[in-house]
Amino acid sequence: MKDTSSPHPRRVLVLGATGTIGRAAARALVQRGHDVTCFVRPRAGVSGALNADDSARLLPGAALRFGDVCDPASLARDAFAGERFDALVSCLASRTGAPKDAWAIDHLAHVHALAAAKQAGVSHMVLLSAICVQKPLLAFQHAKLAFERELMQSGMDYSIVRPTAFFKSLSGQVERVRSGKPFLIFGDGQLTACKPISDADLGDYLADCLDQGDRRNRVLPIGGPGDAITPRQQGEHLFALAGREPKFKHVPVALLDVIIKTLGVMGRVLPPLAAKAELARIGRYYATESMLVLNPDTGRYDADATPSTGRQTLFEHYADLLQGRAATERGDHAVF
Ligand SMILES: NC(=O)c1ccc[n+]([C@@H]2O[C@H](COP(=O)([O-])OP(=O)(O)OC[C@H]3O[C@@H](n4cnc5c(N)ncnc54)[C@H](OP(=O)(O)O)[C@@H]3O)[C@@H](O)[C@H]2O)c1
Repeated sequence: MKDTSSPHPRRVLVLGATGTIGRAAARALVQRGHDVTCFVRPRAGVSGALNADDSARLLPGAALRFGDVCDPASLARDAFAGERFDALVSCLASRTGAPKDAWAIDHLAHVHALAAAKQAGVSHMVLLSAICVQKPLLAFQHAKLAFERELMQSGMDYSIVRPTAFFKSLSGQVERVRSGKPFLIFGDGQLTACKPISDADLGDYLADCLDQGDRRNRVLPIGGPGDAITPRQQGEHLFALAGREPKFKHVPVALLDVIIKTLGVMGRVLPPLAAKAELARIGRYYATESMLVLNPDTGRYDADATPSTGRQTLFEHYADLLQGRAATERGDHAVF
């Protein structure tokens, strides 16, 4: 087995450790021999489903501290607790992407955490961001970018990791296909492409930012192994793995436009519908924009310019899901 131990074990505070990638990052940091402390909510997980014991079981080898990441006093008292830390690793993100929550979490909580980290002697922050912020059209992307800028100007060393699509975001239709339903695609299913990255491969990449000098003070777009794949190819592989004839249902992007417009108008009177309109805008974004590096000169997405890391492929994950060897926590970002 490959020796993953760090040549310089550090004291690391992790935010967002109960999320999909946070768990993988915390695991990778522990594996490398770092001294890992995770600052989490007393009730964590989707809809607060995890109590303190559940969170501890998810994060073996890490120390847990509990408090409120939105409260500067709690960050100083409960997270850093007046002690010295070497690094801050954040996989913290709004679970819904709704504008108010995104500005509170992806931006403001990070601003407070950065200030508290400086006080604690932290010299390097590894930030999980998203590749889609390179073309910001949505509130959560602006919130993430605003913090990215503050981190870059903070004087602290940074590694801003912008991954492509996660497996969980591309696995929502496995059950549909298994049960004989058609695979839903926008347009012809070839409007977009991505280089899916597994949770574990991304966790490793984030953890290795602490030791790899060439990942310091850089914005790092990153995808998984292999070629970029379209939604249509995802469907074709799923049908092949399930031993079924491919069957696609085409959803016009214009349908999303109608939904966005209707919810937007109604949202002026009923605010919960405005939030739903933003979620529909998020859906439209992913239906039409690729999760690949955008070439600023041509305005086109470029698979070859999108770096790859890791070993696990989405199609291996599909096989594991179909055979019951893996399960997906889909969370609140799911479109299909
Ligand atoms: N899905 C994709 O394909 C994709 C692709 C590229 C980039 N990304 C980006 O990757 C990031 C992380 O994704 P993920 O799937 O790992 O996220 P996730 O599973 O939704 O986890 C989010 C983490 O943030 C924490 N958090 C959220 N609101 C909080 C609050 N008010 N107080 C304290 N903690 C809070 C959650 O804690 P609790 O457990 O307490 O809720 C959880 O630990 C996001 O920024 C996303 O934009 C996603």
